[in-house]
Amino acid sequence: MSTRVLSVAAIALWFVTIGVAIFFFIRGQTRVAPDGRTAVLLASDERDLVLAEMRSMLETVQVVVDGVKAGDMERVAKAARASGMAAAADVNPALMAKLPIEFKRLGLSVHRRFDEIAATAGSGASREQLLASLGTQLSACVACHASYRLDTTTPAAK
Ligand code: HEC
Repeated sequence: MSTRVLSVAAIALWFVTIGVAIFFFIRGQTRVAPDGRTAVLLASDERDLVLAEMRSMLETVQVVVDGVKAGDMERVAKAARASGMAAAADVNPALMAKLPIEFKRLGLSVHRRFDEIAATAGSGASREQLLASLGTQLSACVACHASYRLDTTTPAAK
């Protein structure tokens, strides 16, 4: 085989590899679930990790509502900040690769909005403004739950 044919083949293979990587990055590891939602397929410890993060976001929502009711904006800001972008930073790459791109986009937008809520609370915003932001935030939670669920690829640890 000539060098030229070899280099064309190498370049073509490179494009195929990149194409496959992009395809999986966009699609993640998913299948259609019987209830019509997209099931993201995770190992059981990865699923546990994502669900623990979910519970901590629900707790954030609870503290934010309590803080707004009490007019304690410092508490609101602190709780919202704890679920902000900083909390999203330490997710491992193998897990990230399994999440479809729309799931990642929605997830990041929720973390970003918690940072915005923290900033709003710190800037003397009214309770109505904070509740409006929280309402928008909750629509994103609802939207994602309507579209996705988490299934496991490995049996739960005993
Ligand atoms: C990017 C998608 C996405 C976003 C955004 C999202 N969730 Fe979830 N959440 C999920 C999925 C998927 C599950 C698993 C549902 C299932 O398997 O049926 C889940 C589960 C949960 C659970 C159950 C936890 C458990 O231990 O079973 C809670 C609570 C929760 N989410 C709270 C929230 C709150 C509060 C928000 C918004 C602040 C939120 N989620 C935003 C995708 C999301």
